[in-house]
Amino acid sequence: MAGPSLPRPGGVHRLDAFTEPPPGEPIRVDVDGISVAVYNHDGHLYALESRCTHQGGPLDEGEVSGASVTCPWHGSVFALATGQVERGPATRPVRAFGARMEGTTLVLEER
Ligand code: FES
Repeated sequence: MAGPSLPRPGGVHRLDAFTEPPPGEPIRVDVDGISVAVYNHDGHLYALESRCTHQGGPLDEGEVSGASVTCPWHGSVFALATGQVERGPATRPVRAFGARMEGTTLVLEER
């Protein structure tokens, strides 16, 4: 039996009636079944899948410093722009999205 269909890589996701989070206060949204942390940092929007690849910590509750976010559970650090691991214990990147506003719609593009 087939499982739920997942958004295809390279897809675009839209969330209407979205209000940008204030700087320093990331928020979590669910878009097409994906839980995404959205950050407003240095005048840019960034979006990462919100579950840390180590043990699932909430990256929307992580501390943002420079262009990185630190997982609140065990301290893994991920680049906001790419989701790459900058410091473990995580070894796998989190999914990163290009994020922009179109009016009041949040547009996320899978990379
Ligand atoms: S769950 Fe994020 S570092 Fe462990």
